[in-house]
Formats: sequence, C-alpha cells, structure tokens
Amino acid sequence: MSTLDPLIIAQVDALLTDEHNPITALANAAALLYNSMSDLNWAGFYLYSETTDSLDLGPFQGQVACMHIQPGRGVVGTSYRQNQALRVPNVHEFAGHIACDAASNSEVVIPLSVNGRVIGVLDIDSPLLDRFSESDLKTLQDFAQALTPHLDATILRKVYWPASNLMQQ
Ligand code: SME
Repeated sequence: MSTLDPLIIAQVDALLTDEHNPITALANAAALLYNSMSDLNWAGFYLYSETTDSLDLGPFQGQVACMHIQPGRGVVGTSYRQNQALRVPNVHEFAGHIACDAASNSEVVIPLSVNGRVIGVLDIDSPLLDRFSESDLKTLQDFAQALTPHLDATILRKVYWPASNLMQQ
C-alpha cells in the first residue's frame, strides 16, 4: 500500500476548472481519487438532502452502496453530524458502522463544507485493515478543501436545500 501523493490536490483543482455542475465535478473527483490510491473498494460522496433529511448517495466508484444514511448513523452520518474527519482503522470496531460492502475493513470519512455549511462527506473504503495513514488523512482533507470551491452553491441549494437559504453567505 502506498501513501496518497499530494499532487492530487493540484490535479483536482486543475481538472475541475470552469466546471459548474457539482454532480459532474464530484463524479470526476471520485474517479480521480479511486484511481490514485491502491487497495480501495469504494470512493465517493454522500450529500445531505433537506428533503429526505438524510445523506443521499452521490457520485462514486465501487460497488452499489447504501442510498440514504441518516445524520448520526454509521461512520458517514457521525462524521457529518460532528463535522469531523474520521479515520477508522477497523470498521468492525466502530459502533454502528454500516456495512454497505462486506469487503470493507477500514474507512475514512471527511466532511465537505461550502459557504461555511457542511453539505455532505467524502467517504473512502478499503478491504485492508488500517489502510489509511495520518498522512493520507491530511492529504484527503486538503483534497476535500481543494474540491469544494468548485461546487456551485446555487445549484446545490436548488437540489439539496430547496426550502432554505442557509447556504447563502
Ligand atoms: N460504511 C459507511 C457506509 C457507506 S459505505 O461505506 C459506502 C458507514 O458506516 O457510514
């Protein structure tokens, strides 16, 4: 297993230049990430929807996955609710872990913020135990920070936050 090359931060920024559709941007961000790290079985996004009051499955690479996760549930919902990155070396020891893919043994989840609001999370799974180092976590947090300025808040608001202006600065 190798450490994630920090070059991915510049790559995602360049890749998404002038892209205005957030789903398009997240789809290619997931593909870039999935193909830049060894030993992954899933990489993608869950986006909070005001309509369903859940984190809805977004663009991803990997096996079919759970489509709606409630805030506070699983690693994804916990990271979202606490607005905190979670590095889980052994998912079987995380109380409430949601096993979408039985092959997963370790996981990293990183909240995504747009205009100061947590709009969802980046979720990455590995079949290896303790796949993600502290260094990987830091690079993935920087990756998330480079990615979010490319997500158009106006479009996100229309689809995911139809009843509120909470995403306006
Ligand atoms: N394992 C996650 C669920 C999402 S899948 O890994 C794609 C969790 O416990 O929240």
